[in-house]
Amino acid sequence: MINAKTKLIGLLGHPVEHSFSPIMHNAAFRDKNLNYVYLAFDVLPENLKYVIDGAKAMGIVGFNVTIPHKIEIMKYLDEIDENAKLIGAVNTIKIENNKAVGYNTDGLGARMALEEEIGKKVENKNIIIYGAGGAARAVAFELAKNNNIIIANRTVEKAKNLAEEIREKLNKTEEEVKYSGLDANLDGIDIIINATPIGMYPNVDVKPIVKAEQMHKDMVVMDLIYNPLETVLLKEAKKAGAKAINGLGMLIYQGAIAFEIWTNEKPNIEVMKNAIINHLNLK
Ligand SMILES: NC(=O)c1ccc[n+]([C@@H]2O[C@H](COP(=O)([O-])OP(=O)(O)OC[C@H]3O[C@@H](n4cnc5c(N)ncnc54)[C@H](OP(=O)(O)O)[C@@H]3O)[C@@H](O)[C@H]2O)c1
Repeated sequence: MINAKTKLIGLLGHPVEHSFSPIMHNAAFRDKNLNYVYLAFDVLPENLKYVIDGAKAMGIVGFNVTIPHKIEIMKYLDEIDENAKLIGAVNTIKIENNKAVGYNTDGLGARMALEEEIGKKVENKNIIIYGAGGAARAVAFELAKNNNIIIANRTVEKAKNLAEEIREKLNKTEEEVKYSGLDANLDGIDIIINATPIGMYPNVDVKPIVKAEQMHKDMVVMDLIYNPLETVLLKEAKKAGAKAINGLGMLIYQGAIAFEIWTNEKPNIEVMKNAIINHLNLK
């Protein structure tokens, strides 16, 4: 029940009305009997500067941050954790004792989803990541810590810049972190990750970024898209007999890590997952 003691968590974005985070987090709060509520706030870029001071004044406990505010919000925070600094973007904020601290849970969320699906640690693999935007950055910084990666992007210059930044910040060689256009050579690749919106609702019937002929049955193919749950890329993966993983796990785990940052409690992953699946089925 919402009462005078209810604590507030918010989502900052523009737009926000299609987000699944309120559904997922409110279900998890109810399940744990935590007196919190999660609401989505559509914040125009010119109003972002008022948010953190206002939130401190009102005792708001924390936020998720989404497009287009993940980078801009950083200048209003008191502290940014190492991982978020490395990625250069914040997706989670906790306000405690009048201090706003920024975190980024996207990369670790993707790793946890990947490791849960394949049942072991992802290390010493050859991984290609398509895209060089916000999601690709988070995933690439996380996985490059203990794997070889290739960043493949439509705008090759952006892939090059990201690869160079990762090499420099993580002290990696040109062999360990490579870049390419979308026509990358997939010889020796163990894991394919799509971090572009190719195949995302409503443009679901597009040409996949990789075809089944380029895959093999020992490959793992992860699409960060979760709407639809089976994208064109994942259909190709299934045709090739490869392991196909959708973006739902990343969405849930990045949320689960944020939940723990705000409440110091671990949420029930199944409750979060079912809340989203029920919502997707109802749409
Ligand atoms: N599962 C999750 O929790 C989760 C979290 C975050 C994001 N995502 C998903 O990840 C995807 C990317 O999100 P983002 O925030 O990283 O977006 P973003 O910052 O806008 O980056 C988009 C990237 O995709 C590339 N791209 C866009 N349209 C393309 C096209 N038609 N052909 C080839 N490349 C194209 C862009 O290439 P250029 O540089 O050439 O423009 C860019 O590298 C989205 O589908 C999003 O839903 C999932």
